[in-house]
Amino acid sequence: MAETARMANAAGKTGTPGEPRLVIAIDGPAAAGKGTLARRIAAHYDLQYLDTGALYRAVGLAMLRAGLDTDDEQAAAEVARKLDVSLLQDPELRSIEAGDAASKVARHKAVRAALLDFQRDFARQAPRGAVLDGRDIGTVVLPGADVKLFITASPEVRARRRWLELGGERADTPYEEVLRVVKERDARDASRAEAPMKPAEDAHLLDTSELDIDAAFQAALRIIDARIDARRNSDA
Ligand code: DC
Repeated sequence: MAETARMANAAGKTGTPGEPRLVIAIDGPAAAGKGTLARRIAAHYDLQYLDTGALYRAVGLAMLRAGLDTDDEQAAAEVARKLDVSLLQDPELRSIEAGDAASKVARHKAVRAALLDFQRDFARQAPRGAVLDGRDIGTVVLPGADVKLFITASPEVRARRRWLELGGERADTPYEEVLRVVKERDARDASRAEAPMKPAEDAHLLDTSELDIDAAFQAALRIIDARIDARRNSDA
């Protein structure tokens, strides 16, 4: 067990015998810091973590490699149903191209349906609970989640973070190109008919434009701990 999680449990935060499971949904646009936050939250409360964007990226990457058209819903759904999970470890999964292909295949209803049960089963089977991050976790995948966070930041801040991850001045891709792709992906993810990216009505919004990762993590912990306390008090 991670040290932070052990300490959290010793403090009676969650996961102690008799504590109910905890399911946390984290949504938001690309490069808002969701993944880093979700991983830290999962370690802190000793929960299982699933990066659902990786599932869509794996489908997108498999389509690109097979030379298939990302507009072809049937072909994409077939790839999603037979998903090659080894792709989840592929270094190319994090590339701009895989992210773009993911956003394209994610528009298809049949692709989303093929990945839905996997995501729900993951959350259901995690013994102490789970953290899932994506675009539609709080609205579609886990509408009954105990805590929902919607993590945002301005497109410029997100593009800069992604550009720095790609190597900054040493990167092949200029900042302006990363910003263009970020905006294009936001528009596609938010405007699609199927499970568009949007905050659930009961989501807590967290804007990380002005926050570093530690400050964002502390803000998220305050929200989650308040929910745990409220749940305990209502059970008492
Ligand atoms: O979080 P990410 O950048 O790895 O996600 C890649 C794409 O996958 C994103 O642009 C839209 C899609 N996606 C989705 O539609 N639903 C999710 N729950 C997660 C990702």
